[in-house]
Amino acid sequence: MSFVSFSQAVAILRRESIVAFPTETVYGLGAIATSTTAILKIYEIKKRPSFNPLILHVSGLDQARKYGKFNKLALQLAANFWPGPMTLVLPKINYTLSPNATAGLDTIAIRVPAYKQAQNLISAVGTPLVAPSANPSGRLSATSANHVEHLFNSTVPVLDNSTRPIGLESTIIDCTRASPIILRHGAISAELIEKYIGIAPRFPKKDDEIKAPGMLLRHYAPKLPLYLNKKKPFEYQAFITFGDASFENLPIGTQIFSLSPTKNLKEAAATLFTILHKIDSLSEKFKSIAVVPIPNEGIGKAINDRLSRGAHKKI
Ligand code: TXA
Ligand code: MG
Repeated sequence: MSFVSFSQAVAILRRESIVAFPTETVYGLGAIATSTTAILKIYEIKKRPSFNPLILHVSGLDQARKYGKFNKLALQLAANFWPGPMTLVLPKINYTLSPNATAGLDTIAIRVPAYKQAQNLISAVGTPLVAPSANPSGRLSATSANHVEHLFNSTVPVLDNSTRPIGLESTIIDCTRASPIILRHGAISAELIEKYIGIAPRFPKKDDEIKAPGMLLRHYAPKLPLYLNKKKPFEYQAFITFGDASFENLPIGTQIFSLSPTKNLKEAAATLFTILHKIDSLSEKFKSIAVVPIPNEGIGKAINDRLSRGAHKKI
């Protein structure tokens, strides 16, 4: 066990080392944003490519405005959705942070996490924290302290919290222009943004130069091959459903895992990584994973995004 108390977490961060801490989306692997030493530890332990920048976690809008240039759009988004599961990409206006935090880009990704514990951690440390998701690059994200323990073989200090998080990473929105571009789907959906801001966000085109570098990589991969949009399972398959938790005449070796027996997309988002971690721990029992079609609306888009990035690609 590598669980630590709040005051231990503060002390570890201050001496330029790393701590996993809970946020309302997924667990983050935190380091103080001014320390290149601490940030290099994150890249090393996650085996993260150095071109993939980190998100700056701040305690509120005032702190955020010291690091990113807010236009009207960014201010509107912050007023409606912060604190919460939304990251804004803004022009960088402050060069006191470690250059490794932003992987040399002239933009910076910033968010204000909603958990009071995370906000208190940032305030107690006295510096913003960079925090990628607390998982080795490419693997499943962690939605509980136990996931972090397993993923890093108990080598990373973890601050525990038993509240169930949203379960998917924050929505990333490029705010360097007058209208929003969604770089990563999350709980703050395009529909919600349009409702509150009055502008329909667009999405990066294939040849668009604006991208979240991390979204180019293979991601969220379970140990077994994952197949999407399947109506029924094959033998020795872990079968992930939305709704039905039982089926008649299942093939041999099949087991059902329901994302939400009541077909609730929010619940499905909250259980997705938990179920995939569970199947990872049972990977000897199955040959592959199949998932039923998930409605592609609201947070369902974020679920489908994570599933398709973790899916087995036919070459
Ligand atoms: O919910 C979250 O956002 C979680 C929790 C811990 O806060 N964090 C998280 O961090 O998902 P990470 O490192 O796993 O994903 C950050 C993503 C990467 O795809 C990265 O490329 C992108 O944000 N990113 C960071 N800075 C960027 C920038 N300046 N421009 C575009 N994308 C950026
Ligand atoms: Mg990640």
